[in-house]
Amino acid sequence: MCTEEKIKFPFKETSQGLLDFVKHSPTSFHAVRTASEMLEKEGFVHLAESSAWDLEPDGKYYVTRNGSSLIAFCVPREKEAAFRLFCSHTDSPSFKVKEGPQLSGTAGYTKLNVEQYGGALRAPWFDRPLSLAGRVLVQTGNSIETRLVQIDRDLLMIPSLAIHMNREANEGMKYNVQTDLCPVFGDESAIESLRPLIAREMGVQEEAILSMDLFLYNRQRGTFIGANEEFLAAPRLDDLQCMYGSLIGFLNAPQHRAVSVYGAFDNEETGSESRQGAASTFLADVLTRINAARGGSQEDYFRAVAGSFLISGDNAHALHPNHPEKADPVNRPQMNQGVVIKFNANQKYTSDGRSASVLKLLCRHANVPYQVYTNRSDMAGGSTLGNISNTQVSLQAVDIGLPQLAMHSPYEMAGTKDTAYLIELTKEFYSCQLEVTDEKMAVQPSEA
Ligand code: CO
Repeated sequence: MCTEEKIKFPFKETSQGLLDFVKHSPTSFHAVRTASEMLEKEGFVHLAESSAWDLEPDGKYYVTRNGSSLIAFCVPREKEAAFRLFCSHTDSPSFKVKEGPQLSGTAGYTKLNVEQYGGALRAPWFDRPLSLAGRVLVQTGNSIETRLVQIDRDLLMIPSLAIHMNREANEGMKYNVQTDLCPVFGDESAIESLRPLIAREMGVQEEAILSMDLFLYNRQRGTFIGANEEFLAAPRLDDLQCMYGSLIGFLNAPQHRAVSVYGAFDNEETGSESRQGAASTFLADVLTRINAARGGSQEDYFRAVAGSFLISGDNAHALHPNHPEKADPVNRPQMNQGVVIKFNANQKYTSDGRSASVLKLLCRHANVPYQVYTNRSDMAGGSTLGNISNTQVSLQAVDIGLPQLAMHSPYEMAGTKDTAYLIELTKEFYSCQLEVTDEKMAVQPSEA
């Protein structure tokens, strides 16, 4: 059904673009900054939530909250009021450096005191060069400035205990974050070194640093693997692959028929319940304000939402080469086989027959292959932001993702073709004629 020659984004170059995006996005703050720069290059104008919004027809805007969630949108010239949204998340599991960051106690070492962020797979964080990235709050006079920092060198390591000291290590390990996961930051002399190091990096006085939100990140660069480079490996593919692919699709859509909205939310990995997460009012606030700024009434808003459609994009589990028994007997996505539609009877995913039908038709029109994911019936799966954001703005929605392995490891694996498939799908989604209400569903191809 899919004709590869119709995919306009070359697979390898597109994936290289993804790897570059990942490299510049070691934390959710950096992911939002990277995406903001790409949007500004395309003429999108930043709107502050604290300012009055004056929206022009054909205007392109973006809003951020906390510097870690972002919503961009295009205002159509026509009266069209319905919203067409693609949302993903900016954060990934990691370890956050605590206040009072340095730990001494073991002779000869200084460690950093960390706590886990999100559902990290702990073992693969061992025995690899790590570093720090995040944001730093700097005092300038009576003002407080927010600045991002990424220490671009190998700085930290979490060493394994040798096999000779734990002969059972290969029988399965339990890792305690407080005792096992605090990385080595230096010898004893490093005990007062973190703040000076950050201050030097940022070119500020040490005393000017008021607070830091710093996370560990994996230093290993993204790369292609496989006999024909058919796979790629990189940090944070969940969910930067969806965040990047949908952004490129959003920016390259030949036209925007409805109010096109691109969203990327922080804190998905901790349940989305924060000021800027998908459970917050961020999306509802922005949609309400777009409607109001265009002269829409409350009635217009309800009607617009009833005819809107959300694609929630968050990566999906591919069939594992060594553990096929963990997958559903039938619905087992494979990398490089296209976009995955995710289903769950208990509504962890928003997809149902109606919304999946819309998505399948979009894929057909875009010549993009699709496949299906469900959990094994005896295994609980994850959830994502689609159903959570629906508690704030109730939209017809479908959950999709791209197939990947090693989810929540600091180094994950995906297919070289799939980002290009997502781009083609999102281009089609934003530019087609879509009419979806409880009463009617119609999807016209974008060329029509
Ligand atoms: Co995810």
